[in-house]
Amino acid sequence: MDDANIFRWLLNVGEIWPSPSNVDPNPKSTAVWATNPDVKKALDLLPAHEHAKVLRFYHIRDAKLSLASSLLKHRAIADTCHVPWKDSNVGEDKNRKPCYKPPDPAQPKMEFNVSHHGTLVALVGCAGEKIKLGVDIVQMNWSKDYPMVVKSGFESWATTYEMVFSQGEIAEIVAYSVPGSSSQDDIRAKLRHFYAHWCLKEAYVKMTGEALLAPWLKDLEFRGVRVPLPSQAGQLGQINSDVEIWFRGVRVTDVKMELQAYGEDYMIGTASSSLDRPLSEFRNMRVDEDIYPIKDVD
Ligand SMILES: CC(C)(COP(=O)(O)OP(=O)(O)OC[C@H]1O[C@@H](n2cnc3c(N)ncnc32)[C@H](O)[C@@H]1OP(=O)(O)O)[C@@H](O)C(=O)NCCC(=O)NCCS
Repeated sequence: MDDANIFRWLLNVGEIWPSPSNVDPNPKSTAVWATNPDVKKALDLLPAHEHAKVLRFYHIRDAKLSLASSLLKHRAIADTCHVPWKDSNVGEDKNRKPCYKPPDPAQPKMEFNVSHHGTLVALVGCAGEKIKLGVDIVQMNWSKDYPMVVKSGFESWATTYEMVFSQGEIAEIVAYSVPGSSSQDDIRAKLRHFYAHWCLKEAYVKMTGEALLAPWLKDLEFRGVRVPLPSQAGQLGQINSDVEIWFRGVRVTDVKMELQAYGEDYMIGTASSSLDRPLSEFRNMRVDEDIYPIKDVD
């Protein structure tokens, strides 16, 4: 792995660790899913508390995301900090942001952050402890949001998020429109633009670790948000990296933000506290080839 770059991994769990077709959507179904040999193989790589965390999820789709998140974190720590898989312990910082705390402070350290939504899991990471990173995946929820916007109007729908956005951001979100689009397309475009705002803000607050509890959430503003064009299903799409960041009315110039489309329905936001360290392209990870410990298992 190139230590100079910030690496970015994606794992799509849609096609892996399938649930048996006869599994009922009830709490026991996750336990039944866990008996699938592929799932069991993955779960057995995790420490007991992470194994238990995965199985606490009611829905198999959530258990899969949690399982993938754990595996990616261990792979990232093992590779970046050069420790065996069994020593790649995932801890938490004071804000409960997952992190790696080496047993000996003189050993290599790293920074990473994870996000998951739908069937997609992303991890961004880099060696060292100076750079802070945040990542967020959003998935447009057309079937839930679209009828609500039609019913209550976009402005009313958007202002329900005023706990997160500044007045300026809400105004930008409400005013957004694509010239010449039909009203149906306009709602979709406005929703995509809203989710672009959301994704950027989440990535930033996850970088700091304060997450959505940050008391300054509404003091942080993204201006001139451009929505990356969607791509074919399962493909990475357009990247926008020119958003303006403002904090209490002052332009922030020491944080890099990038927003990338993935398929029609996803966007991935990345925040980095380093302007210099390049962001690698997202790499599609494969469980068997890229994640499972083959060389370093003991
Ligand atoms: C925690 C929070 C950032 C998750 O955001 P989300 O959009 O629901 O979910 P995402 O998929 O983007 O992120 C989930 C990942 O964020 C990471 N995360 C958790 N706390 C975090 C924090 N304080 N800062 C940055 N990342 C955090 C974890 O890796 C988690 O995945 P994992 O549990 O599989 O390891 C968001 O719910 C939040 O800000 N909550 C308020 C703070 C809070 O409740 N903290 C208590 C956590 S127990």
